Amino acid sequence: MKEMRVGLGDRSYSIHVGHGCLEDVGQACKDLGLGQRLAIITNPTVADLYLEPVERSLGAAGFSVSVATMADGEEHKTLETAGRLHGDLIEGGLDRGSAVVTLGGGVVGDVGGFVAATYMRGIPFVQVPTTVEAQVDASVGGKTAVDHALGKNMIGAFHQPGLVWIDTETLKTLPDDEFLAGMAEVVKHALIRDSELVDFLDQHVDTLVDRTIGAERLDWLIARNCAIKASVVEADETERGLREILNYGHTIGHAIEAASGFKLKHGQAVAAGMVANGKIAVDKGVLDRTTCERQEALFRRLGIARWAGATSEKLFDLMRSDKKTRDGVIRFVLLHGIEKAVSHDDVTSEEIEAGMAYARSFVTG
Ligand SMILES: NC(=O)c1ccc[n+]([C@@H]2O[C@H](COP(=O)([O-])OP(=O)(O)OC[C@H]3O[C@@H](n4cnc5c(N)ncnc54)[C@H](O)[C@@H]3O)[C@@H](O)[C@H]2O)c1
Ligand SMILES: [Zn+2]
Repeated sequence: MKEMRVGLGDRSYSIHVGHGCLEDVGQACKDLGLGQRLAIITNPTVADLYLEPVERSLGAAGFSVSVATMADGEEHKTLETAGRLHGDLIEGGLDRGSAVVTLGGGVVGDVGGFVAATYMRGIPFVQVPTTVEAQVDASVGGKTAVDHALGKNMIGAFHQPGLVWIDTETLKTLPDDEFLAGMAEVVKHALIRDSELVDFLDQHVDTLVDRTIGAERLDWLIARNCAIKASVVEADETERGLREILNYGHTIGHAIEAASGFKLKHGQAVAAGMVANGKIAVDKGVLDRTTCERQEALFRRLGIARWAGATSEKLFDLMRSDKKTRDGVIRFVLLHGIEKAVSHDDVTSEEIEAGMAYARSFVTG
């Protein structure tokens, strides 16, 4: 079991990473001093697999537990779903001293966190993430949100969890495409912050692809990524500066994801976005070709990058309407080398076009 601390003053919390630790979550919640009444927010897919042990563990620790379920899928990450869950919490008798436990992937974590952030002006919550995406990224950092018809994650709040409880054994049941798509964020973290992790990925990427990596290395990988995310969040909780580097690959990535009508997985689109960024950085003369090729080799082996069939005009429109765009200027995080991520507002339309054309042909082979 690995334990890390996210140091944010009175909003500090721990991240626990272990293999087969799901049944210990009750005791951990008790140690945290949460109120007696809890609601687990989850979806039917995850509930079938993991609700029983979590409910049992919380019950054994003395909590009275209710369960609130949302439908599975990004299309249900809405204000309407959140409103229904608020209703479940009211009916479950949760008061200002109660807490929420989110059990599931990034969708359940984002919606459940948003419900906790807004229920009675904010109650504590615990994240129990069960996908790679959620374990290495979404569960840490306190960004909670729902989507709006006019844009993804448009309605949200910063609300840090009181605890992040990660059982890497839950990844066993995750389909291959979900498991590997989540690795896009892992590659991102490695490139922007951790050359040792890049070395590790070079060495072990094939065991990720065939999923023979083993519990010990998987735990190390997940914990290392949580530590990277935590260190960035500690330095810049509400994304006024450093935290922006976590958007590496996401400017074009989000546009591709939206252009696909969210049929592509986030990680698949972001991987293509990173490939485009690599080309842009090399063209600008800020990144050496060897480092760019190292990134591409990882994505080639992972095989996750995907492109949506959209015109560049459409993609430009989507980029301009993104939350990251300020005063009409599309912002890019570019690598100037491994561990050297720099935010740019000087990428020209021609450079973006060239980056996208390159990534499109990389993806389609
Ligand atoms: N808050 C943040 O900082 C942040 C960061 C990254 C991503 N996100 C958000 O996360 C969401 C994507 O998360 P995701 O990729 O986890 O998708 P997801 O939550 O939709 O989960 C993917 C699928 O896997 C299923 N699932 C979950 N755990 C499982 C398990 N252990 N075994 C089998 N199936 C399982 C889910 O039910 C779902 O069908 C997006 O909405 C994105 O905006 C948020
Ligand atoms: Zn992402």
